[in-house]
Amino acid sequence: MARALDILILAAGRGTRMKSDLPKVLHPLHGEPLIAHVLAEARALAPDRIGVIVGHGRELVRAAVAAPDLEFVVQKEQKGTGHAIRCASRSFAAGDGDVIVLSGDVPLMRAETLRAFVAAHRRSRALASVMTAELAEPGSLGRIIRDAGGRIERIVEAREASPEERAIREINSGIYVFRKSELFARLKGLKRQAASGEYYLTDVIKDLAAAGLPVQAFRLEDETEAFGINTLDDLATAQEALRRRIWQDCAAAGVEIVDPSSTFIGKGVRIGAGTVVWPFSVLMPGVSIGARCRVGPFAHLRSGTLLEDGAEVGNFVEVKNSRLGAKTLARHLSYIGDATIGRDVNVGAGVITANYDGRDKHRTEIDDGAFVGSGAILVAPVSVGREAMIGAGAVVTSRHDVAAGETVVGVPARPFAGKAKKKNKAPARTRRR
Ligand code: UD1
Ligand code: CA
Repeated sequence: MARALDILILAAGRGTRMKSDLPKVLHPLHGEPLIAHVLAEARALAPDRIGVIVGHGRELVRAAVAAPDLEFVVQKEQKGTGHAIRCASRSFAAGDGDVIVLSGDVPLMRAETLRAFVAAHRRSRALASVMTAELAEPGSLGRIIRDAGGRIERIVEAREASPEERAIREINSGIYVFRKSELFARLKGLKRQAASGEYYLTDVIKDLAAAGLPVQAFRLEDETEAFGINTLDDLATAQEALRRRIWQDCAAAGVEIVDPSSTFIGKGVRIGAGTVVWPFSVLMPGVSIGARCRVGPFAHLRSGTLLEDGAEVGNFVEVKNSRLGAKTLARHLSYIGDATIGRDVNVGAGVITANYDGRDKHRTEIDDGAFVGSGAILVAPVSVGREAMIGAGAVVTSRHDVAAGETVVGVPARPFAGKAKKKNKAPARTRRR
């Protein structure tokens, strides 16, 4: 059986340097709170337990991220990173295995990097591993002090470092893996730092090294992953870095973002090769797009949107919690919410799925090859059968389902008595153009 793995996330600090009333970890980065980014990566590791240490603004933090898989630990007074982890000892110290310590204010760390970090820690049989990075401008970060043999000796905070120490460019990312039993045993004996009056988690590293026990460094290849947010300026820098990372991932996957600077693509949005996204489009987290689709300009795809291969969503179309089948087109001025739409469907200009009756949300289903005329309104719950035709401006009222091959027109929509019904037998594709 694999060794147990817990994750503890430090998120109790005040974030004084943000100059804001909002707890630091709740500041939005690319549309989601900082801590949500850290949680997403933590969950991707599928650990046994995730603990979040909250303190300053804890009710707000808890309300923002509460989920059944998270355990909250309260640090009433912020007496330093070592004290924060010590607060978790009551609920997390039992059992053995490893624990990863993450910071709620280091949002660009990737799950795959954490995975490699844990693997290296286990391979080396170290009792503690520190993730480090070499920075051109190490600024206010803790510096890694190594002995003559290159082994980690301790970590010194920039504000407490000598000029020689401050010149060191290898920094502490604030991310660690510890042998759990060792971590909590050492935390008990931790001393308050004279200069700041805080208990430093970094001193556990010093204590282990001083006792001659194995401590490892894991050097990051991409140092942007260690980027910590302390000020609003840092937040803007992280935003830029994250956007760049997302475009680069898109480009590598063969997805063309025509104008990255005017396009919002949420983290984790999946887009298939050959898809083109035109300017001023917003693709929120939880959106998934197939290959060879066309999105925008001015499309708004909200969470739960799934576009299958070759589907198109054009200008001023909003889609939420809906699936559009292969080659289905919704090119102009529509709202599609809570709908399941088959393949080769034409959603005409201005079509609206009225999914909300003032109390509840309902679903709309449109089967393959149907043609929904311009300006039609489909009042959910309702379904439209295969290759059915909805006339322009029709209002299909709720529960008045349209049968396969049927043509309806008018307000409220009724079967059409004219000739269109015959024409309707032509395959959807030729009829459309
Ligand atoms: C810390 C490290 C530093 C490292 C840097 C990386 C220590 C002593 N220093 O410094 O070596 O380079 O992170 O970003 O650990 N927190 C609590 N409770 C507290 C204090 C802090 O939960 O009492 C949380 C904060 O919310 C934050 C994290 O711990 O998420 C780091 O705290 P912060 O005050 O930002 O530490 P740094 O000065 O950045
Ligand atoms: Ca910090």
